[in-house]
Amino acid sequence: MTRLTWLSHGGWMIETEEHRILLDPFLTDNPAAKIPVQQLPKVDHILISHGHFDHVADAATIAKQHDATIVAIYEIADWFTKTQNVESTVGMNIGGQIELPFGSVKMTPALHSSQLPDGSYGGEPAGFLVTIQGTRIYFACDTALFSDMKIYAENVDVAVLPIGDVFTMGIDDSVAATKLINAKKVLPAHYDTWPPIAQNANEWAARIETETTAEPVVLAVGESIDL
Ligand code: NI
Ligand code: MN
Repeated sequence: MTRLTWLSHGGWMIETEEHRILLDPFLTDNPAAKIPVQQLPKVDHILISHGHFDHVADAATIAKQHDATIVAIYEIADWFTKTQNVESTVGMNIGGQIELPFGSVKMTPALHSSQLPDGSYGGEPAGFLVTIQGTRIYFACDTALFSDMKIYAENVDVAVLPIGDVFTMGIDDSVAATKLINAKKVLPAHYDTWPPIAQNANEWAARIETETTAEPVVLAVGESIDL
């Protein structure tokens, strides 16, 4: 069993029988989130894509509460160790792949920016290709459309793409990205958190249906899909 749950915004939870992994959890100060940090089930790893507050804000609290390991680009992993007193971190960099107890994690490029909340340099922004129990999941994370996505994520089982526009790609480019990487299933993220990134996910899904070979999967906040 591999279960993927949308926590709202860029936040995801991946669960297997033995592991629970978060990606960019953002629950406090997030008007769209439904679960408070204190009510999260036991987590063992937290993947962080880049340094913006809507991706790092809750990570240290969760890591300490659960003795979880934060996985991020070197500069952000170092920041969590030195300024947030997080005990267990794994630093990596773009293009690198590591084996973790639940599967493998490859750090992919993203076209975005990455300053940490206190102004520290956050390295380069990233996405993740997670291979877990034979399923390949591409989290583009906060990014514009770029053609190298095809190199890193072609034919993935699941692609998670931002659609909110303004700060990331919007609907048009997310349809183009879906075609480019030829994903089997595609899920929208990073929208409807605040008015500037409001989107009609049903319109997006209709376009994925008609313009690509992928299956669109629109989850409500807190909803899951079993992969
Ligand atoms: Ni961002
Ligand atoms: Mn963001």
